[in-house]
Amino acid sequence: MDQVGMLREMKTKMMPPAIMQKRHNGNTRVIAVTSGKGGVGKTNITANFAYILSKIGKRTLLLDADAGLANIDVILGITPKYNLHHVLRGEKNLSEAVVEGPGGVKILPAASGIPEMAELSKGQKFTLLEELDGLDEDFDFMLIDTAAGIAGNVMYFNMVAGEIIVVASPEPTSLTDAYALIKVLYQGYAARRFTLLVNMAGDSNEAGEVYSRLSNATNHFLDLPIEYLGYIPHDRNVSKAVKKQKLLSEAFPDSKASKSMSEIVEELCRKQPKDYEDGTIKFFDRSIIDKND
Ligand SMILES: Nc1ncnc2c1ncn2[C@@H]1O[C@H](COP(=O)(O)OP(=O)(O)OP(=O)(O)O)[C@@H](O)[C@H]1O
Ligand SMILES: [Mg+2]
Repeated sequence: MDQVGMLREMKTKMMPPAIMQKRHNGNTRVIAVTSGKGGVGKTNITANFAYILSKIGKRTLLLDADAGLANIDVILGITPKYNLHHVLRGEKNLSEAVVEGPGGVKILPAASGIPEMAELSKGQKFTLLEELDGLDEDFDFMLIDTAAGIAGNVMYFNMVAGEIIVVASPEPTSLTDAYALIKVLYQGYAARRFTLLVNMAGDSNEAGEVYSRLSNATNHFLDLPIEYLGYIPHDRNVSKAVKKQKLLSEAFPDSKASKSMSEIVEELCRKQPKDYEDGTIKFFDRSIIDKND
């Protein structure tokens, strides 16, 4: 054996097994942002949270799971060459479709106007889990921006996540849809960890009222407590940023909505769920596909 070969063999022998088997460490926090009702701010919240996390040094993957009606690329003003559709058709692997966005956040864009993406097949769901599991890069956070509603895709992406942030606005329709979504996820899919984030609130009292009404309902009818993550005030700068196709936290970092988003992200980082610490959450559990069918 030549010298280079000997050195290579020595290096391999000295490497601890964890490094040789390069796979995810299982500590990625996979968080879905969902709501039942449409238009309550999921996409803006998820994209800004991903940006803020990246800025504070957390390696973050932002997944646009509104698979048939992509929005993340639009609000970021990017035109990705490939997206989830190419990955699921086997034309590209995930790393080829992932693009880098503002603040260094990695983004897996979705497709727009492709009806077959609105309801993924069992095979596509499996492929996506395989691809996510096989990513070379380790992430601290994976944030999933789900579509509105309670259709199969929404359930699937919520099941992929270890934590679910439910976004609700103070409108009563948002509250009833958030409750319906939690009920279906809890009763049909055994999801348990829900955290409420109130968006477009007038003030903390109004947001607190939304939390107490929703948590009273889940406690009373489902015997399920939910947590409160915080609230984002109604702020016209959100819409201004969307029109500029810039993230709020980038374009208007001093706006009240941007500041509250930063505080909530800090809170999210502090609130590391216990089961991640003891490593009991598997990165991706394939049995969710059967539960979802
Ligand atoms: N805190 C806020 N204050 C004011 N307007 C907001 C706020 N958050 C979001 N919006 C506005 O609400 C609209 C919907 O936002 P967004 O697209 O993020 O919602 P969504 O829940 O992702 O919608 P969909 O269900 O269609 O995917 C946007 O026009 C955005 O400007
Ligand atoms: Mg959206």
